[in-house]
Amino acid sequence: MSKVNEVEIQKQYIEKVKEMNKGKKLKYTILTMGCQLNENDSEKLSGMVEQMGYTKTENAEEADLALFNTCCVRENAEDKLFGKVGELKRIKEKRGTIIAIGGCMMQEKHITDKLHESYPYIDIIFGTHTLHKFPEDLYISIKEKNKIDDIINIDGEIYENLPIKRDSKIKASVTIMYGCNNFCSYCIVPYVRGRERSRKPEDILKEVKELAQNGYKEITLLGQNVNSYDGGEINKNGKTIKYKFANLLRDVNNIEGIERIRFVSPHPKDFTDDVIEAIRDCDKVCKLIHLPLQSGSTNMLKIMNRKYTKEQYLELVRKMKEQIPNLVLSTDIIVGFAGETEDDFEETLDVVRKVKFEQVYMFIYSRRVGTLGDKMENQIPEEIKHKRFDRLKELVESQIEENNKKYIGTIQKVLVEGTSKNNPNMLTGRTGSNKVVVFEGSKDLVDTIIELKIVSEHMWYLKGKI
Ligand code: SAH
Ligand code: SF4
Ligand code: F3S
Repeated sequence: MSKVNEVEIQKQYIEKVKEMNKGKKLKYTILTMGCQLNENDSEKLSGMVEQMGYTKTENAEEADLALFNTCCVRENAEDKLFGKVGELKRIKEKRGTIIAIGGCMMQEKHITDKLHESYPYIDIIFGTHTLHKFPEDLYISIKEKNKIDDIINIDGEIYENLPIKRDSKIKASVTIMYGCNNFCSYCIVPYVRGRERSRKPEDILKEVKELAQNGYKEITLLGQNVNSYDGGEINKNGKTIKYKFANLLRDVNNIEGIERIRFVSPHPKDFTDDVIEAIRDCDKVCKLIHLPLQSGSTNMLKIMNRKYTKEQYLELVRKMKEQIPNLVLSTDIIVGFAGETEDDFEETLDVVRKVKFEQVYMFIYSRRVGTLGDKMENQIPEEIKHKRFDRLKELVESQIEENNKKYIGTIQKVLVEGTSKNNPNMLTGRTGSNKVVVFEGSKDLVDTIIELKIVSEHMWYLKGKI
């Protein structure tokens, strides 16, 4: 069946469910775990579900449909899911709530086995490759009261033009490629998201143009390895060219109305010269670039299968900083991977000291069933992992404090996101370098980009003045 046909069939199921739900004023709730790719998938799920007649509620007690979009990159998400599903049993008994669980964790057999065994009241389990079929799964579940397992292990196709309900009116994520081919030895993602496949350039550009027409100002291009994007061969000005990530950045940069472009998550190995030049040339591309390090030790990087050495990483940083004025970097680091010695860990601290990252996302290594890392014998005791994590955190925090000072007195362009969670009288927004800025101002400023003067700094945010 063609992909276009498949989407049409799902649209028919949407109509059928809508008809069944007519006049019932049904509500749904959705819990999303994990990365921005999952958040983008949840926006698609919400789009489908709202077209089927459900309105959103944050209160699970009044939900007729409870959706979970799961992540499995680290262990803590599992406990969270089991806890939440346990809580739902009572609500289901009371009002017949349909429980549907999807996402990355559902691609792991030991998890679905456990769900079947311990939580037999779950109605629908679906994987990462069958998200587009949710209307059909829901229809069958309501109509035939069947339990549904809709998981496939081959790489999913790319389905265009699914309904989507976006969380923001000004910022939008656009997934440009799916999957990962890298098999870093600690990571589960390649097993649950399949091999790399990219959307067609014209489909992506059409989506971004429509977003711009609808008033969106900030676009985040998403992929597990966003800069290994491969748009295939296209014809440009009478010549056949290979359309890569750098071409896409330049084309998105030319779209009128878009003011900021971000992308996550890139791999250092794919920061080729054409990508660096495109970042330099494109005025809308934010000069905060995420460059996942994982470890500063060449020895660990080899065991992790990261495909670069400490020296190559530092050389890439030097080259990027030289080529791109005002560049700042963020990174991901894993502490306590199997076999990490005290010397290896010191190498990581050394890179952090040298690069002075704007932001560091720090993770304690979590063993994932099925990965090479999990089978290694020399696992690090939890206590040592935690001690190293605390040492890294201390270094990072001292650098952030130092770094924040350089913002004081500067003028920053800030995209205003809403009222501050901690103080409803204040507004909050983000700079191009992704710093949170809190300031006083009228609520009309929400969803606009304004200029602020930075007046003071705090560990996790800056204070600004109009
Ligand atoms: N494709 C992206 C994101 C992968 S998941 C990338 O390559 O950058 C996001 C981060 O989670 C990774 O960068 C890594 O730092 C962390 N991570 C992945 N697997 C992990 C594990 N088993 N334990 C701890 N952290 C992990
Ligand atoms: Fe995981 Fe590595 Fe792929 Fe990132 S590049 S998703 S860390 S295997
Ligand atoms: Fe998690 Fe899946 Fe994203 S495992 S990090 S939600 S790709």
